[in-house]
This record gives sequence, structure tokens and C-alpha cells, in this order.
Amino acid sequence: MALSDCEIIELPKIHDPRGNLTFIENSRHIPFDIQRVYYLYDVPGGADRGAHAHRSLHQFIVAMSGSFDVVLDDGDRKRRFHLNRSFNGLYVAPMMWRYLDNFSSGAVCMVLASSFYDEADYYRDYGEFVAGVKSVKGSKE
Ligand code: TYD
Repeated sequence: MALSDCEIIELPKIHDPRGNLTFIENSRHIPFDIQRVYYLYDVPGGADRGAHAHRSLHQFIVAMSGSFDVVLDDGDRKRRFHLNRSFNGLYVAPMMWRYLDNFSSGAVCMVLASSFYDEADYYRDYGEFVAGVKSVKGSKE
């Protein structure tokens, strides 16, 4: 998967004077089936989260409240995304190093994930991640 596969997806939005409504239906709106939902909240000012990559996990990140940035790095190039709308989300393909920063106060970051939590799926060392990217590319050549 390439960095260009990771993009902001605009979700359906039902406008209503009583309040807007957005929904997400598995692979209809995001490119995977959801097995897990987790969220970050009460993030102190100046904190960074993430700083890891996943071997096979697909994720979709939504700023449910407030705003923050997600920086994606495919081992070669980096891209920074600003999330600040609850009807938008960022699709993060497997094998992308990511960190989250620039959290506004009260920000809530919801993550939809394609699998249950599995520590064995993580790269927590950037050097190992880059070596992993090279070995995946090498095996495809
Ligand atoms: P981690 O993925 O490192 O958080 P972040 O990417 O936001 O900085 O996870 C932090 C801790 O929480 C780690 O001990 C694993 C645990 N955890 C779970 O038990 N289940 C989960 O679904 C997630 C995402 C983390």
C-alpha cells in the first residue's frame, strides 16, 4: 500500500436543524470491515501519540471533537493531515508509520480498526519499520 492510498474520506452527513448525523457502514464507506473501535481523549497539550506502524492493520481516524494532526510516513515520504471535522476521516493503510500531534483542548480521536488489538502487529522502532518496508518491496520485485 502506498502513501497515496491514505486519504481523507468524506462520510455521509444528514443535515438537520436538531443536529447533524454521520454514519459509517463497514466496507461501504471505508475500505475494510471494522473489528475494533478505540478513542483517545483527555490528551494533554503538547502530547504526541502513535509513533508506530502496523504490519497488516487498516485504520480510519476521525476527529469526533476538536482537532489534531496525523503525520503519515511510508519510510520514504511524509504527509501531514489536519483532522477537524467529524464527517471526515483519514484512511491509514498498513505499513505506514504514524504519529498524532497538535491536539486541541477537548479533542477526541476515534479510531476504527480492522482487527483486534495485537502487539505482534506493531512496529515500534522506526529503523525496524524502514527495514520491513524494504523487505516487503524486495519480495515484490
Ligand atoms: P498505543 O497503540 O501505543 O497507543 P497510541 O498509538 O495512541 O500512542 O497503545 C497504548 C497502550 O494501550 C498499549 O499498552 C496497548 C494498549 N492498547 C490496548 O490494550 N488495546 C488497544 O486497542 C489499543 C489501541 C491499545
